[in-house]
Amino acid sequence: MRMMELSGKSGNSKIFIGESISHLASLCTSEKTVIVTDRNVRKFHGEKFPDFPVLEVGLGEESKTLPAVQALYGKFMEMELERGSMVIGIGGGIVCDISGFAASTYLRGMRLGLVPTTLIAQADAAIGGKNGVNLGGYKNLVGTIRHPEFVLCDFSFLSTLPEKERRCGFAEVIKHAAIADATLFSYLEGNLQEAMELKRSVIEKVIHDSILVKTEIVAKDEYEKGERRKLNFGHTVGHAIEKCCCLPHGEAVAIGMVAEAQLSVSRKLLSEKDAGRLMRLLADAGLPAKAKATPSGLLDAMRKDKKRESEIVKMALLEGIGKCSIQDVKMGEIEAVLSGICIAGKGGGSP
Ligand SMILES: NC(=O)c1ccc[n+]([C@@H]2O[C@H](COP(=O)([O-])OP(=O)(O)OC[C@H]3O[C@@H](n4cnc5c(N)ncnc54)[C@H](O)[C@@H]3O)[C@@H](O)[C@H]2O)c1
Repeated sequence: MRMMELSGKSGNSKIFIGESISHLASLCTSEKTVIVTDRNVRKFHGEKFPDFPVLEVGLGEESKTLPAVQALYGKFMEMELERGSMVIGIGGGIVCDISGFAASTYLRGMRLGLVPTTLIAQADAAIGGKNGVNLGGYKNLVGTIRHPEFVLCDFSFLSTLPEKERRCGFAEVIKHAAIADATLFSYLEGNLQEAMELKRSVIEKVIHDSILVKTEIVAKDEYEKGERRKLNFGHTVGHAIEKCCCLPHGEAVAIGMVAEAQLSVSRKLLSEKDAGRLMRLLADAGLPAKAKATPSGLLDAMRKDKKRESEIVKMALLEGIGKCSIQDVKMGEIEAVLSGICIAGKGGGSP
């Protein structure tokens, strides 16, 4: 087990990497604690939960909305939770985002702990304090930044993940390596198969190093004024793909990274060779490189994302493997690379 700490204006997190959920009860020091989860996680792992009341949220992006948060507020009221009460989110990125937002806003903030159960959530979503919900079909339009008191990553959860969800998790891990850790990137190139098979020593290193990339960036720029934007590599295009093609987050981000790497090449920041390495690693992880969408449809979704009005987008572009910078990019420049990731058809992705 390894432990990391992340401190910021919005709180301090202890991150336990490779810890057993059997230690969860000892971290829940409030008189009133409630678990928030979803039905899949409860079905596979509910018997391991400590003996606290359990609330369920729905599945998928359609559930990551204000009505889901409002339903939780109602339950919190019925249970007479107080500011010192504790909410524990046990689930994937959706549960972490909804429970984190509800806990951060009810009574202006209750105590929060997260037990991420997907690779995306362990390597990324549970770390860094960002939580939020979708509004009007647009991603994460409403949210807060507030660090959970602790994040407990128990790798045994990952063994019940459907193959597709496991692959999706590698998109965010590869993103972290691509933007800030060339050594992790090379390690993934050499050990991807064992990582995907969840070999203990390999998955522990991969999740640890991935979390380290995120915590180091968040520690420098908690409120996303600059450096933290690097974590959005692949997400400007990826969020548009997620919306237009109804692909899972990880697959959409993988295709987004292909497009944004091509943009980096067209600006002569990234060599063709390094872009090729990224595309190969994504393909080896079984992630798609193309989306069934049109460039104009994606551009339209990008314009509406976060109610963007400007024709200039701040994007993270690669300057090599393990290095990236934030650049102002015109919408027209993005459009030029979108044809490379679009194929005919409606919804879905493809290698
Ligand atoms: N807040 C952040 O910083 C941040 C970062 C990255 C992603 N995200 C968000 O995370 C979400 C994606 O996260 P996700 O991929 O974990 O999605 P998810 O929460 O929908 O989980 C994927 C699926 O796996 C199931 N599942 C979860 N754990 C399981 C387990 N151990 N065994 C079997 N099934 C399990 C879930 O029920 C769900 O059906 C997106 O909404 C994305 O925007 C947030």
